[in-house]
Amino acid sequence: MHNITLINGDGIGPEISDSVVKIIKASGLDINWDIQSAGADVIEKEGTPLPQRVLDSIKKNRVALKAPVTTPIGKGFRSVNVQLRKSLNLYANVRPCKNLPGIVTRFDSVNLVIVRENTEDLYAGVEEKIDENTAHSIKIITRQASERICRFAFEYALKNNRHEVCAVSKANIMKLSDGLFLESYRNVAKDYPQIKQKEILVDNLCMQLVQNPEKFDVLVLPNLYGDIVSDLAAGLIGGLGVAQGANIGDDCAVFEPVHGSAPDIKGQNKANPTALLLSAVEMLRYIEEYSYADKIEKALFKTLTQGYKTFDLGGELSTTEFRDKIIENLV
Ligand code: NAI
Repeated sequence: MHNITLINGDGIGPEISDSVVKIIKASGLDINWDIQSAGADVIEKEGTPLPQRVLDSIKKNRVALKAPVTTPIGKGFRSVNVQLRKSLNLYANVRPCKNLPGIVTRFDSVNLVIVRENTEDLYAGVEEKIDENTAHSIKIITRQASERICRFAFEYALKNNRHEVCAVSKANIMKLSDGLFLESYRNVAKDYPQIKQKEILVDNLCMQLVQNPEKFDVLVLPNLYGDIVSDLAAGLIGGLGVAQGANIGDDCAVFEPVHGSAPDIKGQNKANPTALLLSAVEMLRYIEEYSYADKIEKALFKTLTQGYKTFDLGGELSTTEFRDKIIENLV
């Protein structure tokens, strides 16, 4: 029996995590879920959106499945997601982005992986108000974190039979910070002559991704570009409802979808659980439960191929109806 931390989040989080837990249970795999709440709802009782008990649970279990948590915009507490990734040193954010069966999009051969640095850059949270009309956010790029993420990307490419790792930056403008990221990439790349190397500026990448996404394989990016390009890439394969992700460190891993808490559809039984389910499938592979991972993925793909879809994909099924179709297809 596996012990796994479950952060069921807020907004659509509880609805989609409930579906995913039920699908995994129906597959026959026994998991002891250690359910940990976080976010705005726990502040009043515990004084923080990310209580130490959540971190302790993940450290103990080494693996977590996480639904989205809301972050207030412009004021209020610091993002639970950013804090979690920093506190547990989950330095690699891995977001595979591949066309799914049964989901028709403008492209049919997208198969790329975004490897996003997860601990620094403009997300380090170093900001100051200079005066009423001026604010500064500091972009922090270090050689240590840049080399670590680039090495992770090359190792990922090797393990997953990928052929190219492309470094994304804006080093023509941010010559020092993005320049250091690129220099780190070049240093690490020397150790991987068998993997093709490429460099691209982030603006050019965005243009090329919406014209010829099939040209890209593994992309390695600093934090902010990685965040933005992930959403763009999600759009190429059917939207945020299907885009999976994982935050990986040396000691533990937290699997979570790319999307947020979708407050606009909260509590309406409308959310697509696919992104969280695919994140859970990767989590099962991480804990080496390959046959259950394959079984659940097969059931999901069969369901989509049969034309069953949630509202975001132009279908008519509710979250729970879609969940039940997947469960019916588990064989
Ligand atoms: P969002 O990803 O929550 O929603 C953007 C759009 O996509 C909305 O129209 C939403 O309805 C739709 N959408 C997202 N997931 C969906 C799903 N599974 N099924 C169907 N439709 C879906 O982004 P937004 O609105 O910018 O952020 C809302 C909140 O989520 C914010 O507080 C943000 O900080 C937080 N957030 C949390 C993340 C996390 O916990 N890892 C990641 C991204 C955002």
